Amino acid sequence: MQTISVRVLDVPDWALYRAVRLAALADAPTAFASTLARELAFPEDRWRERLAGRNQFVAEDGGEVCGLIGVVPADPGVAELVSLWVRPAARGRGVGDLLVREVLRWARDHDVPTVRLWVAEGNEPAERLYTRHDFQRTGTVQPVRAGADALEFAMTRSVRVDEAG
Ligand SMILES: CC(C)(COP(=O)(O)OP(=O)(O)OC[C@H]1O[C@@H](n2cnc3c(N)ncnc32)[C@H](O)[C@@H]1OP(=O)(O)O)[C@@H](O)C(=O)NCCC(=O)NCCS
Repeated sequence: MQTISVRVLDVPDWALYRAVRLAALADAPTAFASTLARELAFPEDRWRERLAGRNQFVAEDGGEVCGLIGVVPADPGVAELVSLWVRPAARGRGVGDLLVREVLRWARDHDVPTVRLWVAEGNEPAERLYTRHDFQRTGTVQPVRAGADALEFAMTRSVRVDEAG
């Protein structure tokens, strides 16, 4: 784990971000509300806009990206944890833990008291990870995307300003 570090992406990183996000969508098509076909069509500006809020993070192992996560403002006082993905070869080493901790730190630093996320039904590795970080199901369920049969459920977690981490 010592070699793995997490950094925020900035607008000039847009091509790297695009490559990692497309790899995530190709690898785990049922885990995300979006699709590879949809995001392959995004123009450069769309990728740049997503990084302008400085709220997308990558994990790197020896300079190679091994994971991605984002956090975006949602309702007042609520931010959404999005886009979590760890390269298959890097799983089971705590990279997901590092990335979730980074989002919780972001929420604390931005005085956002609640972090929400959506996880597809049956995605047990992801749910175990979120539960380990004290997220709990809210009971809210929705289709993964418009017209899909698959469901995703909401989980939330409170963030205290004095929380360690
Ligand atoms: C879900 C996902 C992000 C988890 O990534 P990860 O880096 O493997 O996550 P973790 O850090 O939690 O590690 C997973 C397992 O390895 C274990 N682990 C963590 N650090 C470890 C270490 N240093 N040594 C041994 N095992 C370790 C964890 O305890 C966990 O075990 P468990 O699943 O039996 O509870 C990854 O599987 C993934 O990218 N899936 C596809 C995309 C996806 O589903 N994203 C979520 C959308 S909501």
